[in-house]
Amino acid sequence: MTNQKKLWGGRFSEATAASVEEFTESVQYDWRLFRHDIAGSRVHARMLCRQEIISGEELEHIIQGLNAIEEDIKNKKFEFKTEFEDIHMNIEKALIDRIGPAGAKLHTGRSRNDQICLDTRLYLRSESSRIKNLIREVNRTLVRLARSYQGAIMPGYTHLQKAQPVLLSHHLLAYYEMFKRDLARFNDCLKRINVLPLGAAALAGTGLPLDREYVAAELDFPEISKNSMDAVAGRDFAVEFLSNCTITQLHLSRLAEELVIWSSDEFGFVEISDSFCTGSSIMPQKKNPDIPELIRGKSGRVTGNLMSLITTMKGLPLTYNRDLQEDKEPLFDSADTISRELAITAEMLSNLKFNKKRLEQAAREGFMTATDLADYLVKKGMPFRDAHAVVGDIVSYCLKQGKKLKELTLDELQRYARVIDRDVFDILSEEGSINSRLSLGGTAEKQVKKALEQAEKELEEPL
Ligand code: ARG
Repeated sequence: MTNQKKLWGGRFSEATAASVEEFTESVQYDWRLFRHDIAGSRVHARMLCRQEIISGEELEHIIQGLNAIEEDIKNKKFEFKTEFEDIHMNIEKALIDRIGPAGAKLHTGRSRNDQICLDTRLYLRSESSRIKNLIREVNRTLVRLARSYQGAIMPGYTHLQKAQPVLLSHHLLAYYEMFKRDLARFNDCLKRINVLPLGAAALAGTGLPLDREYVAAELDFPEISKNSMDAVAGRDFAVEFLSNCTITQLHLSRLAEELVIWSSDEFGFVEISDSFCTGSSIMPQKKNPDIPELIRGKSGRVTGNLMSLITTMKGLPLTYNRDLQEDKEPLFDSADTISRELAITAEMLSNLKFNKKRLEQAAREGFMTATDLADYLVKKGMPFRDAHAVVGDIVSYCLKQGKKLKELTLDELQRYARVIDRDVFDILSEEGSINSRLSLGGTAEKQVKKALEQAEKELEEPL
């Protein structure tokens, strides 16, 4: 199209090449920011009127025009045009077409450089609140599960080798803690997101008498950017948001991985309900854990989005550079992906059935109370290193005899250490071992009960 029609066409004598329009446009994806763009424009226009830069009548036309455009976009009646590049210019052009000269006054004292920053901040604010609610829901489900399987025992692992018996609730509450931190991170990041950039204009501020305090209050920004160059060039709030998404992704992926392993025939710890699995097109017997697999698989794109923006930012001179347009797709993709994953994780968790018998059976195999026996010897006065060696010998004897630790007779045990007494059998049982772990944050039933009550209380707190 000829550049005369473009909002910035004045100084150009030749039309933009079609390939350039196609290469530079962003409206294909940034149209999603329309609500935020319009919300920002409404307040900007009201401020311009209060400052007597536009008249009351012009303001009214602008507001009505923006409302109508918003309705049209919502009803899919608005035609986005790539020749107008981005969401800002599509809306502004439509406004001018609809209301005439008053529309051309909206952009007074504003640049797309501070405008896009405002839109992105408003978008991330609303996504953060959505994500926080979804994380809370996952945690609610985890706590519900932990409550309903109270007392169930299972093997705790290190190196994916059986290590020490633990309570299933303790294992589940470990994820509760991770997600609780994730939520706190999204909350904290809001402090950096909630800073009003509008008023920075292109990069240096403006000579027009704008009232930034008014705009900040109306758009609910507790803070106003203090340096106009930083305001239009900075994207660390977006990097931080992507980083928070990545950490949440890691937690979701680790949980997913456990569900994949635990639902295998070999483990048989848990069953994911049929409605949350899929079959194989060739092997009729298969029931596949596709949901946790996909969650695990999405780690690639979510961590990739973080790398993408970090790489884009590296080495950018101040202030605005068109490179910054590349922040949108990673942000949209991570926010969408994380939200969908959190929602399906909560649903999937409430569709899990743990096999308590199988968990218990697994917990009773494999000499997992060996550390307890060593601790027992330490309490009887033996240096820990000696105790470690003695228990090693006892385990090797058990392996040869095909016996479990607690199946040994007192006589057999005393052959390895005379200090062993009848009371040893209290700690050789898995329950004895679990309940001896009374240290704060340990797996003893008493501690887990406390943790569960604490978590239930926390779930009532405002987000
Ligand atoms: N679409 C642009 C972006 O996403 C908006 C700002 C454009 N500013 C400019 N001077 N071309 O970053």
